[in-house]
Amino acid sequence: MTEPAVRCTGVSHSFGTTRAVDGVDLEIAPGEVFGLLGPNGAGKTTTLRMITTLLPTAPDHITVFGVDVARRRMAVRRLIGYVPQQLSADGALTGRENVALFARLFDVPRARRAGEVRRALDLVGLADDADRVAKGYSGGMIRRLELAQALVSSPRLLILDEPTIGLDPVARSAVWERITQIRTDTGMTVLVTTHYMDEAEQYCDRVALMHTGRVRALGTPADLETDLGPGSTLDDVFRAVTGDRLETDEGGIRSVRAARRTARRLG
Ligand SMILES: Nc1ncnc2c1ncn2[C@@H]1O[C@H](COP(=O)(O)OP(=O)(O)OP(=O)(O)O)[C@@H](O)[C@H]1O
Ligand SMILES: [Mg+2]
Repeated sequence: MTEPAVRCTGVSHSFGTTRAVDGVDLEIAPGEVFGLLGPNGAGKTTTLRMITTLLPTAPDHITVFGVDVARRRMAVRRLIGYVPQQLSADGALTGRENVALFARLFDVPRARRAGEVRRALDLVGLADDADRVAKGYSGGMIRRLELAQALVSSPRLLILDEPTIGLDPVARSAVWERITQIRTDTGMTVLVTTHYMDEAEQYCDRVALMHTGRVRALGTPADLETDLGPGSTLDDVFRAVTGDRLETDEGGIRSVRAARRTARRLG
């Protein structure tokens, strides 16, 4: 039997008295595009940081392609490409230099580095802008540059924390088209968080909805919608899971929409 790309068993993490992640069980199949959804503070980023080894984990709770994250940190890191929620490209360097830095960090053999950097920049459509400094890039170009940084080591698992936040609709679909194309070409597994339910619906094979540190719903977008009732959207599932008083209280809807607008502005 093939190992799952990611297996989380009873994963928890606290910051002081805040229980950010509270007993998460997840299994992601190789080649899947898996969406981790949930409101601000649900525990999504914390979960991703544990999977990427950036936060400590006890043994026997998380494996990546069968490799225990706590026991074999370096081996796990070699399997993963990660685009964090905060912008991580260096504005003073060119696109090519930014990607080359990651190629060195992730042990791409010296003889193959220049070629792999070019391939990664090509994949995200930045070949023509590769030798401009990144501070002159638009938000969408920066996000694609970060995708190239994560792809340069040919990871088996690509982890993206809100890859499209703050982008215009055209830039959002450009990022997603790159992601799905690469998945089709290489069979790479993709674990992604997003606040955009339309993106999750369109591009994710399965999603988990997190709320207050726990997985509250899990399945294909279509299954979750069907379970909630005829004509439901993923937005409705999200509201049902997070306890929004959609049916009874108009103020509730407005306040959620306002909160989401704020979240988008703050990135
Ligand atoms: N470094 C930290 N120190 C203290 N508390 C933290 C830290 N990182 C996260 N938290 C807390 O843990 C909880 C989960 O945060 P997390 O960043 O995982 O949520 P999230 O689902 O990624 O939210 P968002 O959608 O806003 O990115 C929140 O209550 C947050 O305040
Ligand atoms: Mg987050």
